Amino acid sequence: MRSEGIRSGPAGDGPSDRLRWNARYRRSAPDFTPHPLVAEAFAAGMVDGPVLELACGRSGSALALAEAGRRVVAVDVSDVALQQLATEAKRRGVAARVACVQADLETFVPPRGMFAFVLATRFWDAAVFDAAREAVSPGGLLGWEALALTDEDGSAVTSRFRVRHGTLGAALGPGWEVLLETATGETAGLRPHRSTRVLARALGR
Ligand SMILES: C[S@@+](CC[C@H](N)C(=O)[O-])C[C@H]1O[C@@H](n2cnc3c(N)ncnc32)[C@H](O)[C@@H]1O
Repeated sequence: MRSEGIRSGPAGDGPSDRLRWNARYRRSAPDFTPHPLVAEAFAAGMVDGPVLELACGRSGSALALAEAGRRVVAVDVSDVALQQLATEAKRRGVAARVACVQADLETFVPPRGMFAFVLATRFWDAAVFDAAREAVSPGGLLGWEALALTDEDGSAVTSRFRVRHGTLGAALGPGWEVLLETATGETAGLRPHRSTRVLARALGR
């Protein structure tokens, strides 16, 4: 049965992702802290339009954006995370601006050129990054943070879940202005790790 307030997107073959993440989200309480990319996007200037957040989890970013008046489409495979997000959005009186969509990003394709800001944090998938880039409207922003693949990772030269710092900005190509690209040290969960973050603007297309 579908949870209240959560729409269903295309299902993929990610039931194991869903179960794994559901279990993690059941184990800990959310804190709904927005990601710094939200403040950085506002500081950079955001064109009018809705926001798309991919792999949103229990997103404080989606809540902050909705509280700032944006309509937000928040997509994740975890119905537990989305339910926690939807409940908090309702508590804050912004439920009408937060559309929670349960979907597997391996099969979910966002509409092209529609979003003033597309955000994904602590997530990496090259194909999803490409789709996210296409979903940004002219003049809109793409904000992304992923775990960084570092030299300390030894022989690992590629990783499905990590990307080397500098790759995100380079992958955007012409038609984009990279506003910031930073390597960050971060501690999330039990293990300290590094991440790489980019904020870029789509030039008129
Ligand atoms: C490390 S968490 C990041 C959550 C949030 N963006 C943040 O910064 O706290 C990764 C998120 O990706 C979601 N996820 C993992 N695989 C997915 C998939 N195939 N489709 C959609 N979401 C997925 C998980 O449910 C989880 O919420």
